[in-house]
Amino acid sequence: MTDHRDHGCVTIRSQANPGQTRGPIYLDYNATTPVDPRAVDALLPYLGEHFGNPSSGHAFGLEPHAAIDRARGRVATLIGARPDEIVFTGSGSESDALAIRGAVLTALTDRAERWASGPPHVVTQATEHPAVLAACHALTRVHGVEVTYLPVDADGLVSPDEFAGALTDRTVLATIMQANNETGVVQPIAELAAIAHAAGALFHTDAAQTVGKIPVDVTCVGVDLLTLVGHKMYAPKGVAALYVRSGLRIEPLIAGGGQERGLRAGTENVALITALGTAADLAAADLAAGEPNRLAGLRDTLRERLEGALPGRVHVNGHPSRRLPHTLNLRIDGVAGDTLLAAVPEIAASTGSACHTGDPTPCLKRWLSRRPSRSGRSGCPWGAGPPTPTSAGRPTCWSRRHRGLAPPGRHAWSSVRRI
Ligand SMILES: Cc1ncc(COP(=O)(O)O)c(C=O)c1O
Repeated sequence: MTDHRDHGCVTIRSQANPGQTRGPIYLDYNATTPVDPRAVDALLPYLGEHFGNPSSGHAFGLEPHAAIDRARGRVATLIGARPDEIVFTGSGSESDALAIRGAVLTALTDRAERWASGPPHVVTQATEHPAVLAACHALTRVHGVEVTYLPVDADGLVSPDEFAGALTDRTVLATIMQANNETGVVQPIAELAAIAHAAGALFHTDAAQTVGKIPVDVTCVGVDLLTLVGHKMYAPKGVAALYVRSGLRIEPLIAGGGQERGLRAGTENVALITALGTAADLAAADLAAGEPNRLAGLRDTLRERLEGALPGRVHVNGHPSRRLPHTLNLRIDGVAGDTLLAAVPEIAASTGSACHTGDPTPCLKRWLSRRPSRSGRSGCPWGAGPPTPTSAGRPTCWSRRHRGLAPPGRHAWSSVRRI
């Protein structure tokens, strides 16, 4: 169970990762979350005592096999799925590729006569994570698949009407992320999935940023395929899952020993899968305890105090309300994102996604650069999580003077000191 304790202005998880007891305040939860120490405790026995191969029929295989079953059940419960609908993978990128390539290749092999009038077609949108965009590009390059990249509107949302208009009788799959990793904008997934189904297409969503952060139920949103990622929900890196709706057939990326219902060959990483199962349980408890509301409160307080300190200069990128509770993507007139973050070394945040190297997603950057702002166009996504401390815990973090941010005579950050 989640163990909370009161810590000044807010309640924080007492199980904070040891890496967060010193150094800058970590506000980059969309890049990765700290591993919950309880997930670490849960995985350790599978690196030691329970080292057996889960496929072995003898005694050493029993506990590893049972541990995978337990984890599968926990992940399934978190998203309202059945355990046999969960396929463990090694990363979010792999889950995305398995969903997208798997669905399209199955359609290609199953129904050759269907493609007489043209190649299979996929619909996605421009601000997807590169894992989705690159999987789509590869399908075009290698298999001649046609892909439509829908734009997003000024709030970062896909228009359901434009989405419906993009679907054709050759559309095999639509893949639209549930929430953007940089802006936190939450797409109308249930509506889009229903439109895709009415046109005879499958629907995949990359839910890397939502599962464990907001309630996600695959039957409510009506998706066929859903990506979730361990290191975005307090499990270690290198483990993820794909929800594959019961009865849906997709082509595996890796064939071999038949693990994961034949959808992902390779001896399972029992330790990391166990940690993901534990993280799923912890996430369910946090969601039930109202953690999203607490984080939304922190996010809004931070924005309000920045707006108070820099009147008229602070703008939120993305939809005002359809946003993840823990994500704040800001631009401040007159200050470039890089300059801002360089001036605040006490905060570990990013000017773009760290899920891939270098700059923010190029498409997202183009979208940000179209947003009205006098200057200082880069967006700064700040993501918080359960152990994000208040000033009570880390008094110096918000109290330094920062050159170039404050209007003359004002102390830019003084009014946010107590967030
Ligand atoms: C929305 C989204 N999808 C996919 C990924 C890729 O996950 P992974 O790094 O595990 O491949 C990330 C971040 O890393 C992400 O934010």
